[in-house]
Amino acid sequence: MKRRAYITGPLLPAGLSLLQGKAELVVEPGPAPPTRERLLEQVAAADGLLALVTSRIDAEVIAAAGRLRVISNFAVGYDNIDVQAATRAGILVTNTPDVLTETTADLAFALMLAAARRLGEAERFVRSGQWNLWQPDLLLGRDVWGATLGIVGLGRIGRAVARRARGFGMHILYADERPDPRAEAELECSFRSLEDLLRESDFVTIHLPLNDRTRGLFGAGRFALMKPTAILINTARGPIVDQRALYEALRAKRLAAAGLDVTDPEPIRPDDPLLTLDNCVILPHIGSASVRTRDRMAELAARNLLDALEGRRPAHCVNPEVIDQGRWRKA
Ligand code: GLV
Repeated sequence: MKRRAYITGPLLPAGLSLLQGKAELVVEPGPAPPTRERLLEQVAAADGLLALVTSRIDAEVIAAAGRLRVISNFAVGYDNIDVQAATRAGILVTNTPDVLTETTADLAFALMLAAARRLGEAERFVRSGQWNLWQPDLLLGRDVWGATLGIVGLGRIGRAVARRARGFGMHILYADERPDPRAEAELECSFRSLEDLLRESDFVTIHLPLNDRTRGLFGAGRFALMKPTAILINTARGPIVDQRALYEALRAKRLAAAGLDVTDPEPIRPDDPLLTLDNCVILPHIGSASVRTRDRMAELAARNLLDALEGRRPAHCVNPEVIDQGRWRKA
């Protein structure tokens, strides 16, 4: 008997083709995510779930998932899933690390350059017909090369950003739970407490997962530690930054600029005051959005799902204890 898999949005062909013929598929046509009612109803009948980050898989959804064995997230971050509830229910959760590391680091760097060199403003200036003269003081920004970069979270993506920063001759600091001497030797970076990193850095880039410890980590108190010339970059998750406090800091020029690929909520509300600021570059959560990387994510999410449905251990389990402690639901 074929297993039934529910996919909460359109999956790229690179992933879909791996599943076709192997499972009975119910694929939401998108682009909007399923309603809550539809999600609950479909999950109740599924053996496997492939979730886009736009679907919140909380305890209620997991309670409705009578025969579900796996939740395959189409993302490396999995804050949209109640992993504890899944683990208690004996459901495996998988994600898509590694394949998106370099692409996301590229975007973090693009945001640093865009915010520092005022690329959004400059483009709006040209398109609105204001460019009528070259002037020595037109749209002056800040240098990225040679500046001090503070990486908050030296995981896979943080390290990929550090590698790029070396090419720009940056002085690299990092904050994490503990020092990592191997990474320090390889990347020529130095450990700091978060507070010291904020005081010393010209650019601060966030590479942390969203969880109870990181929600709201960047608020007014931490912005006050930063240099008024500093630039904040967030390609991780919106709620790690207190968006209202960021607005106040940018408006009052207590921070020079910000580059955000993620906001709270997503999409950002059209009346969010951040949208009125010229010193804030905002992108629609496209960190991993290159053609090649999204294909590789689709493949990996599909493989994780299929492996679990066919009783194999997927390559990337978020809660491997479900298998290791013999708690995985029987097919
Ligand atoms: C995207 O935001 C991801 O976590 O992969």
